[in-house]
Amino acid sequence: MGNYDSITTCRICRSGELFGFLDLGDLPAVNDFQDSPTDVAQTYPLETVFCKDCNHVQLRNTVARATLFENYTYFSSASDPMVDHFGDYADTITDRFLTADDLVVEIGSNDGILLGQLPDKVRAVGVEPAHNVAKVAEREHDLDVITEMFDSDVASRVETKYGRAAAVLANNVVGHVDDLRDFAVGVDTLLADDGVFVLEVPYLVDLLNDGTFDTMYHEHISYFCIRPMATLLDQRGLEIFDVERQPVHGGSIRVYAQRRGGPHDRTGYVDDLTTLERHMGLADVETYDRFANQIEQYRERLTGLLEALARQGTVAGYGASAKGNVLLNYCGLDSETIDYIVDTTPAKQNTYAPGTAIPVEPPSKFQEHPPDYALLLAWNYTDAILAKETEFREAGGRFVIPQPKLDVV
Ligand code: TMP
Repeated sequence: MGNYDSITTCRICRSGELFGFLDLGDLPAVNDFQDSPTDVAQTYPLETVFCKDCNHVQLRNTVARATLFENYTYFSSASDPMVDHFGDYADTITDRFLTADDLVVEIGSNDGILLGQLPDKVRAVGVEPAHNVAKVAEREHDLDVITEMFDSDVASRVETKYGRAAAVLANNVVGHVDDLRDFAVGVDTLLADDGVFVLEVPYLVDLLNDGTFDTMYHEHISYFCIRPMATLLDQRGLEIFDVERQPVHGGSIRVYAQRRGGPHDRTGYVDDLTTLERHMGLADVETYDRFANQIEQYRERLTGLLEALARQGTVAGYGASAKGNVLLNYCGLDSETIDYIVDTTPAKQNTYAPGTAIPVEPPSKFQEHPPDYALLLAWNYTDAILAKETEFREAGGRFVIPQPKLDVV
Protein backbone atom coordinates (compact mmCIF):
# COMPACT_ATOMS: atom_id res chain seq x y z
CA MET A 1 0.00 0.00 0.00
CA GLY A 2 1.05 3.63 -0.14
CA ASN A 3 0.33 6.47 -2.51
CA TYR A 4 -2.67 7.80 -0.61
CA ASP A 5 -3.42 10.49 1.96
CA SER A 6 -5.95 10.58 4.79
CA ILE A 7 -8.10 13.54 5.78
CA THR A 8 -8.65 14.72 9.33
CA THR A 9 -11.15 17.44 8.44
CA CYS A 10 -14.18 17.62 6.15
CA ARG A 11 -13.41 18.46 2.52
CA ILE A 12 -16.27 21.01 2.47
CA CYS A 13 -16.57 22.69 5.87
CA ARG A 14 -13.18 21.77 7.47
CA SER A 15 -14.86 20.37 10.58
CA GLY A 16 -12.89 17.69 12.45
CA GLU A 17 -16.13 15.89 13.45
CA LEU A 18 -15.79 12.96 11.08
CA PHE A 19 -17.64 9.74 11.88
CA GLY A 20 -16.37 6.58 10.14
CA PHE A 21 -19.27 4.23 9.35
CA LEU A 22 -18.32 1.85 6.55
CA ASP A 23 -15.01 0.08 6.03
CA LEU A 24 -15.00 -2.07 2.89
CA GLY A 25 -11.40 -3.17 3.51
CA ASP A 26 -8.36 -2.86 1.24
CA LEU A 27 -9.49 -2.88 -2.38
CA PRO A 28 -7.71 -2.36 -5.71
CA ALA A 29 -8.48 0.69 -7.84
CA VAL A 30 -11.53 -0.36 -9.88
CA ASN A 31 -10.11 0.55 -13.28
CA ASP A 32 -6.71 -1.04 -12.67
CA PHE A 33 -7.23 -3.93 -15.09
CA GLN A 34 -4.17 -6.22 -15.23
CA ASP A 35 -2.32 -7.70 -18.20
CA SER A 36 -1.76 -11.10 -16.62
CA PRO A 37 -3.65 -13.21 -14.07
CA THR A 38 -0.58 -13.29 -11.85
CA ASP A 39 -0.13 -9.49 -11.78
CA VAL A 40 -1.33 -8.19 -8.44
CA ALA A 41 -3.18 -4.87 -8.38
CA GLN A 42 -2.14 -2.52 -5.60
CA THR A 43 -4.79 -2.11 -2.89
CA TYR A 44 -5.86 0.91 -0.83
CA PRO A 45 -8.19 1.27 2.17
CA LEU A 46 -11.80 2.11 1.34
CA GLU A 47 -13.46 3.73 4.33
CA THR A 48 -16.37 6.15 4.30
CA VAL A 49 -16.94 8.94 6.83
CA PHE A 50 -19.77 11.35 7.60
CA CYS A 51 -19.21 14.96 8.64
CA LYS A 52 -21.38 15.68 11.66
CA ASP A 53 -21.32 19.41 10.89
CA CYS A 54 -22.17 19.85 7.20
CA ASN A 55 -23.32 16.20 6.72
CA HIS A 56 -21.00 15.54 3.79
CA VAL A 57 -20.33 11.82 3.16
CA GLN A 58 -16.83 11.19 1.84
CA LEU A 59 -13.90 8.76 1.79
CA ARG A 60 -11.32 9.04 4.52
CA ASN A 61 -8.44 8.32 2.14
CA THR A 62 -7.48 9.92 -1.14
CA VAL A 63 -5.58 7.74 -3.60
CA ALA A 64 -3.28 9.95 -5.71
CA ARG A 65 -5.47 11.20 -8.53
CA ALA A 66 -2.76 10.70 -11.15
CA THR A 67 -2.61 7.00 -10.22
CA LEU A 68 -6.30 6.66 -10.96
CA PHE A 69 -6.93 8.90 -13.92
CA GLU A 70 -3.88 9.28 -16.15
CA ASN A 71 -4.57 6.20 -18.19
CA TYR A 72 -8.21 5.44 -17.73
CA THR A 73 -10.31 2.52 -18.93
CA TYR A 74 -13.73 4.14 -18.46
CA PHE A 75 -15.14 5.38 -21.76
CA SER A 76 -18.64 6.80 -21.25
CA SER A 77 -19.67 6.06 -24.85
CA ALA A 78 -19.09 2.30 -24.39
CA SER A 79 -22.61 2.13 -22.92
CA ASP A 80 -25.38 3.01 -25.38
CA PRO A 81 -27.83 4.18 -22.68
CA MET A 82 -25.29 6.82 -21.61
CA VAL A 83 -25.02 8.12 -25.18
CA ASP A 84 -28.81 8.61 -25.19
CA HIS A 85 -28.78 10.18 -21.74
CA PHE A 86 -26.16 12.77 -22.73
CA GLY A 87 -27.94 13.41 -26.05
CA ASP A 88 -31.07 14.43 -24.09
CA TYR A 89 -28.92 16.40 -21.65
CA ALA A 90 -27.29 18.33 -24.52
CA ASP A 91 -30.74 19.20 -25.93
CA THR A 92 -32.01 20.34 -22.52
CA ILE A 93 -29.19 22.74 -21.77
CA THR A 94 -29.17 24.06 -25.33
CA ASP A 95 -32.89 24.84 -25.16
CA ARG A 96 -32.80 26.27 -21.65
CA PHE A 97 -29.55 28.24 -21.56
CA LEU A 98 -27.49 28.54 -24.77
CA THR A 99 -27.40 30.91 -27.71
CA ALA A 100 -25.08 31.03 -30.73
CA ASP A 101 -21.34 31.43 -29.98
CA ASP A 102 -21.76 30.75 -26.27
CA LEU A 103 -18.79 29.09 -24.61
CA VAL A 104 -19.47 25.76 -22.87
CA VAL A 105 -16.72 24.22 -20.75
CA GLU A 106 -17.12 20.65 -19.54
CA ILE A 107 -14.94 19.46 -16.67
CA GLY A 108 -14.27 15.73 -17.02
CA SER A 109 -15.39 15.61 -20.65
CA ASN A 110 -14.34 11.95 -21.03
CA ASP A 111 -14.66 10.79 -24.67
CA GLY A 112 -16.82 13.77 -25.67
CA ILE A 113 -20.11 12.00 -25.03
CA LEU A 114 -21.88 15.26 -24.09
CA LEU A 115 -19.93 18.04 -25.84
CA GLY A 116 -19.96 16.03 -29.07
CA GLN A 117 -23.78 16.15 -29.04
CA LEU A 118 -24.08 19.93 -28.62
CA PRO A 119 -25.05 21.94 -31.72
CA ASP A 120 -22.22 23.42 -33.84
CA LYS A 121 -23.40 26.94 -33.01
CA VAL A 122 -21.80 26.83 -29.53
CA ARG A 123 -18.07 26.75 -28.71
CA ALA A 124 -17.24 23.66 -26.70
CA VAL A 125 -14.08 23.07 -24.67
CA GLY A 126 -13.35 19.96 -22.62
CA VAL A 127 -11.03 19.50 -19.64
CA GLU A 128 -10.04 15.87 -19.15
CA PRO A 129 -6.96 14.44 -17.39
CA ALA A 130 -6.95 10.98 -19.03
CA HIS A 131 -4.85 11.34 -22.19
CA ASN A 132 -6.15 8.18 -23.85
CA VAL A 133 -9.79 9.19 -23.27
CA ALA A 134 -9.27 12.85 -24.28
CA LYS A 135 -7.71 11.70 -27.55
CA VAL A 136 -10.94 9.94 -28.49
CA ALA A 137 -12.91 13.16 -27.87
CA GLU A 138 -10.51 15.10 -30.10
CA ARG A 139 -10.49 12.49 -32.85
CA GLU A 140 -14.16 11.46 -32.91
CA HIS A 141 -15.78 14.81 -32.11
CA ASP A 142 -13.15 17.30 -33.22
CA LEU A 143 -13.23 18.92 -29.76
CA ASP A 144 -10.72 21.21 -28.06
CA VAL A 145 -9.62 19.34 -24.93
CA ILE A 146 -7.27 20.59 -22.23
CA THR A 147 -5.64 17.37 -21.04
CA GLU A 148 -5.28 18.22 -17.36
CA MET A 149 -6.93 17.59 -14.02
CA PHE A 150 -9.23 20.58 -13.45
CA ASP A 151 -8.30 22.94 -10.62
CA SER A 152 -8.31 26.69 -10.06
CA ASP A 153 -5.02 27.14 -12.01
CA VAL A 154 -6.34 25.27 -15.03
CA ALA A 155 -9.55 27.31 -14.78
CA SER A 156 -7.56 30.57 -14.93
CA ARG A 157 -5.71 29.40 -18.03
CA VAL A 158 -8.92 28.30 -19.76
CA GLU A 159 -10.49 31.65 -18.90
CA THR A 160 -7.49 33.56 -20.29
CA LYS A 161 -7.57 31.59 -23.53
CA TYR A 162 -11.32 31.26 -24.18
CA GLY A 163 -13.05 33.78 -21.87
CA ARG A 164 -15.81 33.06 -19.34
CA ALA A 165 -18.39 30.38 -20.01
CA ALA A 166 -22.17 30.63 -20.38
CA ALA A 167 -22.28 27.08 -19.07
CA VAL A 168 -19.79 25.13 -16.99
CA LEU A 169 -20.70 21.45 -16.89
CA ALA A 170 -19.38 18.69 -14.64
CA ASN A 171 -20.87 15.22 -14.88
CA ASN A 172 -19.78 12.36 -12.65
CA VAL A 173 -16.68 14.29 -11.76
CA VAL A 174 -17.32 16.48 -8.70
CA GLY A 175 -17.38 13.29 -6.65
CA HIS A 176 -13.86 12.53 -7.92
CA VAL A 177 -12.35 15.74 -6.59
CA ASP A 178 -10.18 15.82 -3.48
CA ASP A 179 -9.83 19.60 -3.08
CA LEU A 180 -13.48 20.55 -3.48
CA ARG A 181 -12.98 24.12 -2.30
CA ASP A 182 -10.34 24.76 -4.94
CA PHE A 183 -12.58 23.12 -7.56
CA ALA A 184 -15.33 25.59 -6.63
CA VAL A 185 -12.86 28.47 -6.99
CA GLY A 186 -12.17 27.19 -10.52
CA VAL A 187 -15.86 27.14 -11.40
CA ASP A 188 -16.23 30.65 -10.01
CA THR A 189 -13.30 31.82 -12.18
CA LEU A 190 -14.77 30.37 -15.35
CA LEU A 191 -18.43 31.19 -15.01
CA ALA A 192 -19.92 34.25 -16.74
CA ASP A 193 -21.94 36.58 -14.49
CA ASP A 194 -25.23 35.17 -15.83
CA GLY A 195 -23.82 31.70 -16.52
CA VAL A 196 -25.05 28.34 -15.27
CA PHE A 197 -23.08 25.62 -13.56
CA VAL A 198 -24.76 22.27 -14.26
CA LEU A 199 -23.52 19.06 -12.73
CA GLU A 200 -24.57 15.48 -12.29
CA VAL A 201 -23.56 13.32 -9.37
CA PRO A 202 -24.83 9.99 -8.05
CA TYR A 203 -27.42 10.81 -5.35
CA LEU A 204 -26.76 9.73 -1.78
CA VAL A 205 -30.51 9.24 -1.26
CA ASP A 206 -30.60 6.53 -3.93
CA LEU A 207 -27.38 4.96 -2.65
CA LEU A 208 -28.77 4.65 0.88
CA ASN A 209 -32.28 3.59 -0.17
CA ASP A 210 -31.00 0.92 -2.54
CA GLY A 211 -27.95 -0.23 -0.54
CA THR A 212 -25.75 0.29 -3.58
CA PHE A 213 -22.48 0.37 -1.63
CA ASP A 214 -20.67 -0.93 -4.74
CA THR A 215 -20.84 2.59 -6.20
CA MET A 216 -18.39 3.54 -3.43
CA TYR A 217 -14.80 3.28 -4.63
CA HIS A 218 -11.54 5.21 -4.56
CA GLU A 219 -12.42 7.33 -7.60
CA HIS A 220 -15.58 8.51 -5.84
CA ILE A 221 -14.40 10.58 -2.91
CA SER A 222 -17.73 12.33 -2.24
CA TYR A 223 -21.35 11.07 -2.04
CA PHE A 224 -23.55 14.10 -2.43
CA CYS A 225 -26.92 15.20 -1.27
CA ILE A 226 -28.28 18.74 -1.62
CA ARG A 227 -27.31 20.28 1.70
CA PRO A 228 -23.51 19.83 1.62
CA MET A 229 -23.49 20.62 -2.10
CA ALA A 230 -25.30 23.92 -1.37
CA THR A 231 -22.76 24.67 1.40
CA LEU A 232 -19.85 24.14 -1.00
CA LEU A 233 -21.37 26.31 -3.73
CA ASP A 234 -22.35 29.01 -1.26
CA GLN A 235 -18.65 29.42 -0.32
CA ARG A 236 -18.18 30.88 -3.84
CA GLY A 237 -21.42 32.86 -3.95
CA LEU A 238 -23.24 30.26 -6.02
CA GLU A 239 -26.79 29.02 -5.36
CA ILE A 240 -28.75 26.02 -6.54
CA PHE A 241 -31.87 27.07 -8.47
CA ASP A 242 -33.08 23.73 -9.82
CA VAL A 243 -32.48 20.04 -9.39
CA GLU A 244 -33.72 16.93 -11.20
CA ARG A 245 -33.42 13.28 -10.31
CA GLN A 246 -31.92 11.24 -13.13
CA PRO A 247 -31.97 7.45 -13.47
CA VAL A 248 -28.31 7.07 -14.48
CA HIS A 249 -25.57 5.35 -12.44
CA GLY A 250 -28.08 3.83 -10.07
CA GLY A 251 -29.78 7.18 -9.36
CA SER A 252 -28.27 10.64 -9.78
CA ILE A 253 -29.19 14.29 -9.40
CA ARG A 254 -28.63 17.01 -11.96
CA VAL A 255 -28.01 20.25 -10.11
CA TYR A 256 -28.37 23.69 -11.71
CA ALA A 257 -26.55 26.58 -10.03
CA GLN A 258 -25.94 30.25 -10.75
CA ARG A 259 -24.40 33.25 -9.03
CA ARG A 260 -26.46 34.35 -6.04
CA GLY A 261 -29.34 36.51 -7.27
CA GLY A 262 -28.79 35.37 -10.88
CA PRO A 263 -31.42 35.39 -13.65
CA HIS A 264 -33.10 32.01 -13.01
CA ASP A 265 -36.02 31.52 -10.63
CA ARG A 266 -35.59 28.89 -7.97
CA THR A 267 -37.89 25.91 -8.54
CA GLY A 268 -39.69 24.06 -5.76
CA TYR A 269 -37.68 20.87 -6.41
CA VAL A 270 -34.70 22.16 -4.43
CA ASP A 271 -36.75 22.47 -1.23
CA ASP A 272 -38.60 19.20 -1.96
CA LEU A 273 -35.36 17.24 -2.02
CA THR A 274 -33.90 19.03 0.98
CA THR A 275 -37.03 18.09 2.92
CA LEU A 276 -36.83 14.49 1.72
CA GLU A 277 -33.20 14.31 2.86
CA ARG A 278 -34.10 15.59 6.31
CA HIS A 279 -36.94 13.09 6.67
CA MET A 280 -34.66 10.24 5.59
CA GLY A 281 -32.29 11.10 8.45
CA LEU A 282 -29.35 12.15 6.29
CA ALA A 283 -28.15 14.38 9.13
CA ASP A 284 -28.12 11.50 11.67
CA VAL A 285 -25.21 9.12 12.28
CA GLU A 286 -27.65 6.25 13.03
CA THR A 287 -28.78 6.28 9.39
CA TYR A 288 -25.24 5.49 8.27
CA ASP A 289 -24.72 2.79 10.91
CA ARG A 290 -27.90 1.06 9.73
CA PHE A 291 -26.66 1.22 6.14
CA ALA A 292 -23.32 -0.39 7.08
CA ASN A 293 -25.13 -3.28 8.83
CA GLN A 294 -27.29 -3.89 5.76
CA ILE A 295 -24.18 -4.16 3.59
CA GLU A 296 -22.66 -6.92 5.71
CA GLN A 297 -25.89 -8.90 5.51
CA TYR A 298 -26.02 -8.37 1.76
CA ARG A 299 -22.54 -9.86 1.34
CA GLU A 300 -23.70 -13.08 3.04
CA ARG A 301 -26.76 -13.32 0.79
CA LEU A 302 -24.90 -12.70 -2.48
CA THR A 303 -21.97 -15.01 -1.81
CA GLY A 304 -24.33 -17.75 -0.57
CA LEU A 305 -26.42 -17.50 -3.73
CA LEU A 306 -23.48 -17.44 -6.13
CA GLU A 307 -21.70 -20.34 -4.48
CA ALA A 308 -24.89 -22.39 -4.75
CA LEU A 309 -25.38 -21.45 -8.41
CA ALA A 310 -21.73 -22.21 -9.23
CA ARG A 311 -22.29 -25.75 -7.93
CA GLN A 312 -25.21 -26.14 -10.35
CA GLY A 313 -23.67 -24.58 -13.46
CA THR A 314 -21.26 -22.04 -14.92
CA VAL A 315 -21.30 -18.37 -13.92
CA ALA A 316 -19.94 -15.44 -15.96
CA GLY A 317 -19.94 -11.71 -15.25
CA TYR A 318 -21.68 -9.26 -17.58
CA GLY A 319 -20.04 -5.79 -17.78
CA ALA A 320 -16.63 -5.28 -16.12
CA SER A 321 -17.96 -2.14 -14.48
CA ALA A 322 -16.18 -0.27 -11.71
CA LYS A 323 -18.97 -1.13 -9.29
CA GLY A 324 -18.72 -4.76 -10.37
CA ASN A 325 -15.11 -4.80 -9.26
CA VAL A 326 -16.09 -3.45 -5.83
CA LEU A 327 -18.82 -6.06 -5.52
CA LEU A 328 -16.52 -8.94 -6.49
CA ASN A 329 -13.64 -7.84 -4.27
CA TYR A 330 -15.75 -7.00 -1.23
CA CYS A 331 -17.62 -10.30 -1.52
CA GLY A 332 -14.41 -12.28 -2.10
CA LEU A 333 -15.59 -13.64 -5.46
CA ASP A 334 -12.90 -14.57 -7.99
CA SER A 335 -12.18 -16.90 -10.91
CA GLU A 336 -13.11 -19.91 -8.74
CA THR A 337 -16.75 -18.82 -9.06
CA ILE A 338 -16.83 -16.51 -12.10
CA ASP A 339 -15.30 -17.96 -15.30
CA TYR A 340 -15.02 -14.72 -17.26
CA ILE A 341 -16.55 -11.24 -17.59
CA VAL A 342 -17.64 -9.75 -20.92
CA ASP A 343 -17.37 -6.04 -21.61
CA THR A 344 -17.94 -3.77 -24.61
CA THR A 345 -14.95 -1.50 -23.78
CA PRO A 346 -11.95 -2.42 -26.00
CA ALA A 347 -9.48 -1.13 -23.36
CA LYS A 348 -10.82 -3.64 -20.80
CA GLN A 349 -10.87 -6.65 -23.12
CA ASN A 350 -8.11 -9.28 -22.87
CA THR A 351 -7.20 -8.07 -19.39
CA TYR A 352 -7.87 -9.41 -15.88
CA ALA A 353 -10.24 -7.70 -13.48
CA PRO A 354 -8.33 -6.03 -10.62
CA GLY A 355 -8.06 -8.06 -7.44
CA THR A 356 -9.98 -11.08 -8.74
CA ALA A 357 -7.92 -12.13 -11.79
CA ILE A 358 -11.12 -12.93 -13.70
CA PRO A 359 -10.44 -12.69 -17.46
CA VAL A 360 -12.28 -9.88 -19.27
CA GLU A 361 -13.43 -10.88 -22.75
CA PRO A 362 -15.21 -9.20 -25.67
CA PRO A 363 -19.02 -9.68 -25.83
CA SER A 364 -18.65 -12.37 -28.54
CA LYS A 365 -17.48 -14.77 -25.80
CA PHE A 366 -20.95 -14.58 -24.26
CA GLN A 367 -22.55 -15.76 -27.51
CA GLU A 368 -19.92 -18.41 -28.19
CA HIS A 369 -19.70 -19.84 -24.65
CA PRO A 370 -22.87 -18.78 -22.86
CA PRO A 371 -22.79 -19.52 -19.13
CA ASP A 372 -25.73 -20.95 -17.18
CA TYR A 373 -25.81 -17.79 -15.05
CA ALA A 374 -24.69 -14.27 -15.86
CA LEU A 375 -23.98 -11.99 -12.91
CA LEU A 376 -25.08 -8.56 -14.15
CA LEU A 377 -22.22 -6.41 -12.87
CA ALA A 378 -23.42 -3.46 -15.02
CA TRP A 379 -26.76 -3.61 -13.15
CA ASN A 380 -27.46 0.06 -13.81
CA TYR A 381 -28.21 -0.98 -17.42
CA THR A 382 -30.43 -3.95 -16.50
CA ASP A 383 -33.34 -2.95 -18.78
CA ALA A 384 -31.12 -2.33 -21.83
CA ILE A 385 -29.11 -5.52 -21.30
CA LEU A 386 -32.14 -7.76 -20.71
CA ALA A 387 -33.68 -6.31 -23.87
CA LYS A 388 -30.63 -7.13 -25.98
CA GLU A 389 -29.93 -10.58 -24.47
CA THR A 390 -33.30 -12.24 -25.09
CA GLU A 391 -31.66 -15.18 -26.91
CA PHE A 392 -29.57 -16.06 -23.84
CA ARG A 393 -32.65 -16.21 -21.63
CA GLU A 394 -34.76 -18.04 -24.22
CA ALA A 395 -32.04 -20.74 -24.33
CA GLY A 396 -32.41 -21.20 -20.55
CA GLY A 397 -29.72 -18.77 -19.32
CA ARG A 398 -30.46 -16.74 -16.20
CA PHE A 399 -29.30 -13.31 -15.12
CA VAL A 400 -28.38 -12.76 -11.49
CA ILE A 401 -29.14 -9.11 -10.80
CA PRO A 402 -27.12 -8.10 -7.75
CA GLN A 403 -28.45 -4.59 -7.20
CA PRO A 404 -30.55 -2.66 -6.22
CA LYS A 405 -32.48 -5.81 -5.24
CA LEU A 406 -30.85 -9.24 -5.45
CA ASP A 407 -32.82 -11.24 -8.02
CA VAL A 408 -32.50 -14.07 -10.55
CA VAL A 409 -34.45 -13.63 -13.82
P1 TMP B 1 -20.71 2.01 -15.93
O1 TMP B 1 -21.86 1.37 -15.19
O2 TMP B 1 -19.71 2.62 -15.00
O3 TMP B 1 -21.19 2.91 -17.02
O4 TMP B 1 -19.91 0.78 -16.62
C1 TMP B 1 -20.58 -0.20 -17.35
C2 TMP B 1 -19.59 -1.14 -17.96
O5 TMP B 1 -20.33 -2.18 -18.60
C3 TMP B 1 -18.71 -0.52 -19.04
O6 TMP B 1 -17.41 -1.08 -18.94
C4 TMP B 1 -19.38 -0.97 -20.34
C5 TMP B 1 -20.00 -2.27 -19.97
N1 TMP B 1 -21.22 -2.63 -20.70
C6 TMP B 1 -21.24 -3.86 -21.39
O7 TMP B 1 -20.26 -4.59 -21.39
N2 TMP B 1 -22.38 -4.18 -22.08
C7 TMP B 1 -23.49 -3.37 -22.11
O8 TMP B 1 -24.49 -3.72 -22.75
C8 TMP B 1 -23.46 -2.12 -21.38
C9 TMP B 1 -24.65 -1.21 -21.37
C10 TMP B 1 -22.30 -1.79 -20.68
